[in-house]
Parts: sequence; structure tokens; C-alpha cells
Amino acid sequence: MKSIIVNTAGLDKIKLKNSWIYNKEIKSDFKDIKDGQLVRVLTPDKKFVGIGFLNPKSKITLRILTFKDEPINKEFFIGKIKNAFEKRKPLFEITDAYRVIHAEADGLSGLMVDYYNGYLSIQINSAAIESFRDYIIQGLIEVLNPKGIYEKSDEKAREKEGLQPSEGLVYGNIPDKIEITEHQAKFVINLKESQKTGFYLDQRKNRKIVSDYTQENFKVLDLFSNSGGFGIHCGLKGASFVKFVDVSPNAVNYIEENVKINKIKEYQIVREDVFDFLKKEIKSQQKYDLIILDPPPFAKTKNEKEGALRGFKYLILNSLKLLEEGGYLAVFSCSHHITLQDLIDTTLQACKDTFSVVELREFLMQDVDHPYVLNIPNSFYLKGFLIEKL
Ligand SMILES: C[S@@+](CC[C@H](N)C(=O)[O-])C[C@H]1O[C@@H](n2cnc3c(N)ncnc32)[C@H](O)[C@@H]1O
Repeated sequence: MKSIIVNTAGLDKIKLKNSWIYNKEIKSDFKDIKDGQLVRVLTPDKKFVGIGFLNPKSKITLRILTFKDEPINKEFFIGKIKNAFEKRKPLFEITDAYRVIHAEADGLSGLMVDYYNGYLSIQINSAAIESFRDYIIQGLIEVLNPKGIYEKSDEKAREKEGLQPSEGLVYGNIPDKIEITEHQAKFVINLKESQKTGFYLDQRKNRKIVSDYTQENFKVLDLFSNSGGFGIHCGLKGASFVKFVDVSPNAVNYIEENVKINKIKEYQIVREDVFDFLKKEIKSQQKYDLIILDPPPFAKTKNEKEGALRGFKYLILNSLKLLEEGGYLAVFSCSHHITLQDLIDTTLQACKDTFSVVELREFLMQDVDHPYVLNIPNSFYLKGFLIEKL
């Protein structure tokens, strides 16, 4: 195996076990090494620090697969899958749907695997993982014994790695509809049609925390509801009425199914852009006791942050107008570039414009099957809070 020497900036990352090494962090010339090779990674004074996958087509020139001197074979991947699976076991008491592998946070940069009641949805977004695809599929079958595996790889991420798009059945069979359980709620999902890899599993913990605030006769507004996750939990906890709003026709179809299987009686489903919906709702002087704001990632890059915060201010300000005194508002952002402090500052601006006073009741973040490893700043992406309007 050939070697690559990193510079001091690369070494600083390696000390933190950060597996992404950019071109500018590599000291040695690697022109004579073929793309897609495994290489031994050395410090500037030539000490071994790990084994990486070289892909000059990607911004991440070198992805470190291990910080140990060990073979990269089927057993290596099985070990990683087993470790990750063991960590998820405490969740089995409350759900049969969880993320099994969350990319570098589980030591497999570029791989996402979700488990849905016997079926797997996978996303392969790095050339490194793609090159070990067979080992990984075999490993998943061996450790998790799924009835089917469906691939839904992110086109844009694959393009950046020099890979073709990839979607379809990989193993076994996948029914059109799979029913999953989360606490007392049931959800029907469709791995082929749904957004993301199936369901917003990262919000599981927050759906519980937020819906626990529901009181009898609460009117709930679930904005950007997708297939109804938050609103359905609130309905099951005694809300007298839930309004779901999402712009996606597919998401809205699934809300219809999900309210039925959970026997939610009083509800309304609105397929509309939330920004337009809010304007009308304020005009018609509606009021709610609990509002959930869980928009898509408005800021996928740093450059989009300013516009994203303007969007958040509009959403929070108008939600505060619709909220009863003593009511609750949950605000989330799933963009790594928007910090919790950004959300707090934006909420304060919205308070100023609406003469509102709010008290923080809960800080919220992604659930444990989407680990936040401090050494990997990108692994913290979903943050939010629940506030009470005084
Ligand atoms: C982060 S997901 C919400 C997940 C959901 N809270 C759950 O627990 O499953 C964001 C949702 O916003 C929807 N969406 C995106 N832009 C929208 C818009 N302008 N108006 C309404 N819905 C929108 C998407 O269709 C998606 O379902």
C-alpha cells in the first residue's frame, strides 16, 4: 500500500479523529497513486496514523477509514455495523424504526442506513463506501437480517464524489407501504417515494418532548408537518384539533393515512406553502395553543444563512401572532450553519416586533441514533427549542 503524508493542518484534524482531509492538508505528492486506492496516512514526520481512501475528484481528497493499522475487509465493516447496532438497542423499547449508521458519527463516512420494521433504506454518498459496497451490503444482511434493502443515494452528494446517481432495490423485497411504531403512534411510510431515507427519525425524541406539553382541548398547528409526525403525537395526547400544513403532495397523502391508523378525529390537512398559509391564517384571526415549526434546511451553505434567518424571523414572528398566551412554540433548524444562538437571536427580534415575552422550556436536538460527536462539528445539525408565550 502506498503512503500519503499530511501537513500540520491535516495532522491537527487527525488528532481529533476527523476523517475528512482536503487537498491543502496533504504534504506529499500523490500523482503516482491511482484514484480510489487505499493509502497509509503518515504524519509530517512519517509516523503511521491511519488508512485512507484517495479520491482527488472530491473536495475531500482523502477519507480516513481507520486510525488503526488493520485490514479493511468484510470483517472491518461488519465490526462497524455491529457496534452501531448495539448502540441503538435502548431504542428498541420505544420504536421499530431507527438510524443504524449515521455516516462518520458511526465511523463510516458517506454511509447512512435506516431500519424500518424489518426493511433497510441506505444512502451511499462517498466513493470510499461505494468501493466497498458489496462488503457493506453483505455485512448489513449478516448483522440485521433485513427482508429487503432499498437504496436512495443523494444525487448531489454523489456527483461531488464523481459517482453516478443510484436508487433502487438492492436486496430482497420492499413493500410499497411499511408500518412503523414510535411510542404509541403508528406511521405508514414508503421508502421509494418518501423524502430523505424514509421518515424524519432524527425528530423522534422531540416529537415525544413537545407532544408531552399537549393539554386537553389544545389546538395544535403542525407547520412543515411532512407525514404528520408531531401533530399525530399531539392528537394521541388529547389535542382537540390538529392542523397539518405541508406543501408536498406526497407528504399530505401520508398524513391522511397516518391520522386514520391513529384514529385522530378532529384535524385538517392543508397542502400549501407555509409562508402563504401564515398570511391567510393571521387574517382569519385563528389562535393555537401549540405550534410546531420544523422547516427544511433553509441554509445548506454558509452563503444562504442570512436569507434563511430572514425566513425564520417571518415564521417565528407570525407563529407568535397565532399563539395564545400561555401557549407553546417549538422551533427547529436542521442546517448545520444555523446555530442555536442564531435561532434565539431571531426569536428575540420576532418578540420585539410582536411585543411578546417568551420563556424557554426545552432545548432540543437530534435523537441519539443520529449521534453528535463533538470532534465532528458537522454531526450536530438539528437544534431547536420549545418556548412558552407568557
Ligand atoms: C424537516 S421536514 C419536517 C418533518 C416533520 N416535522 C416530521 O416530524 O416528520 C420539512 C417539511 O417541510 C416541507 N416543506 C418544505 N418547504 C415548504 C414550504 N415552503 N411550505 C410548506 N411545507 C414545506 C417538506 O415537504 C417537508 O415535509
